Amino acid sequence: MAPERLFTVEELSVHYNKVTALDRVSFGVDRGDFIALIGVNGSGKTTLARSILGLLRYQKGRIVWHEDVEIGCVAQHTGVEDRNFPATVEEVVASGVRKSKPLPKWLNRHDKTHIRRMMEYFDIDAIAKKRIGALSGGQYQRALLARSMVMQPDVLILDEPINSLDQGSQKNFLDLLKQLNQEQDLTILMITHDVAGVEPYATRILYLETDLLFDGTFDEFCETQTLSPYIHTHPRRYGRGCS
Ligand SMILES: Nc1ncnc2c1ncn2[C@@H]1O[C@H](COP(=O)(O)OP(=O)(O)O)[C@@H](O)[C@H]1O
Ligand SMILES: [Mg+2]
Repeated sequence: MAPERLFTVEELSVHYNKVTALDRVSFGVDRGDFIALIGVNGSGKTTLARSILGLLRYQKGRIVWHEDVEIGCVAQHTGVEDRNFPATVEEVVASGVRKSKPLPKWLNRHDKTHIRRMMEYFDIDAIAKKRIGALSGGQYQRALLARSMVMQPDVLILDEPINSLDQGSQKNFLDLLKQLNQEQDLTILMITHDVAGVEPYATRILYLETDLLFDGTFDEFCETQTLSPYIHTHPRRYGRGCS
């Protein structure tokens, strides 16, 4: 069966004044893809994610959506963002539902059941009443993931979601993404630095350096002589790295 195309990026270019952040980037995303978008700092990864999310105006090229695709996102996690906002885990997850409700945005019984199920699925139901400022990094990321999943998106875009987490929480989070990818056919585009770490997870690697220099499998990436030095400069974690 031919894969179901969700969207296609065609010759996309983005400039910030004189800086070219993306130069004629083209690729397609099919349902069920688990894509790791990699590249050094300043290579245009966040710009690409924001373009796809419709958060910035690009100057050239286009993004073609092939059907009525629902898109979710988990923004870049630095570990120092403002978590003093006095919201509980439950309220953060509920905000994912409220976003799409008409005013006065009251939740009905169905919404509440749905929110509770989501918290159970993401293993944050026991901390539902906790303030988000009091969570561990891993718990906080799971709460953000739960919030972005309540509307059951077809595609989830994550910008360096695990950077600031310890190794155990990183693996835990990636396992959860893999489960969503395989069990719910969630399409994932994840920006990450740790290419060796995503090897057991990602079905596809995109390597960006203003231009899109590579689009293929992890093994093909390792065989690409001009790019494999990149992977060797990144520490091997729970993936196997290029050998
Ligand atoms: N709002 C902005 N204004 C001006 N330049 C920007 C802005 N955002 C990003 N850039 C520049 O665009 C390039 C790509 O940035 P970015 O997409 O954030 O890369 P990455 O996420 O891969 O680190 C960099 O040179 C960065 O300095
Ligand atoms: Mg970035």
